[in-house]
Amino acid sequence: MSAHVPDESGAVVRAQGCTKIYGDGHAEVTAVSEVDLSIGRGELVALVGPSGSGKSTLLSMLGALLTPTTGRVFVEAVDVGVLNERERTALRARRIGFVFQASGLVPFLTAQENVAAVGSFAGMPRGDIDRRTRQLLGQLGLAERTDHLPEALSGGERQRVSIARALLADPPVLLADEPTAHLDHERGEQVIRLLADAVHDGTRAGLVVTHDPAVAAHADRVVHITDGRLDPTG
Ligand SMILES: Nc1ncnc2c1ncn2[C@@H]1O[C@H](COP(=O)(O)OP(=O)(O)O)[C@@H](O)[C@H]1O
Ligand SMILES: [Mg+2]
Repeated sequence: MSAHVPDESGAVVRAQGCTKIYGDGHAEVTAVSEVDLSIGRGELVALVGPSGSGKSTLLSMLGALLTPTTGRVFVEAVDVGVLNERERTALRARRIGFVFQASGLVPFLTAQENVAAVGSFAGMPRGDIDRRTRQLLGQLGLAERTDHLPEALSGGERQRVSIARALLADPPVLLADEPTAHLDHERGEQVIRLLADAVHDGTRAGLVVTHDPAVAAHADRVVHITDGRLDPTG
């Protein structure tokens, strides 16, 4: 895979003055307001705030899923705003790993097939996809589960498969939106430890949105958001 290169400020992913306004006229909602956030390599940031405070919106902008109304997002010094649709899709596939609250696995594909399926979007050679899929599922404690369909896996196992999928292309940015919300404490701990390990091995930057203090405890930095604004002390 290509080298992971932070920009000159050391940031792997960076929001600069990002504002997101949904709707227009009377229906306007300012979900995120003038946010600056920079995450470096090997750094896991926890984003904490009440429901509706703009956490998912900010995560989506950092992941090039959503275009800011104003402000800019940089991924490894690339200004996401200058990319066309196709380039942004490629950036997401190659440079960003996503983990969501629901694992989002395809129900008719096995664990191994679910992970491998994203490899072709990232332009990975077949051999690399197979090798890395096996390696990741093994590392995440799923070696015995590779041929199981999602319905035969526990919630924690499904979430571990989704982590393997997020890491397949070895992305420099890992974004997780309430990844432990559907898990009991023990399984949640396991999932967050795996996410933290994937960042703390020094190869990527991570952001995890959470309500769970146990999750935030694994982060290097906790950032609080209220009404779309980051707490200046966070
Ligand atoms: N697609 C959308 N269209 C309109 N409003 C939205 C949309 N997505 C989110 N919002 C609003 O933006 C605000 C922030 O939402 P969100 O980022 O999902 O917050 P959180 O993840 O912290 O719960 C909320 O007021 C929400 O209702
Ligand atoms: Mg949310």
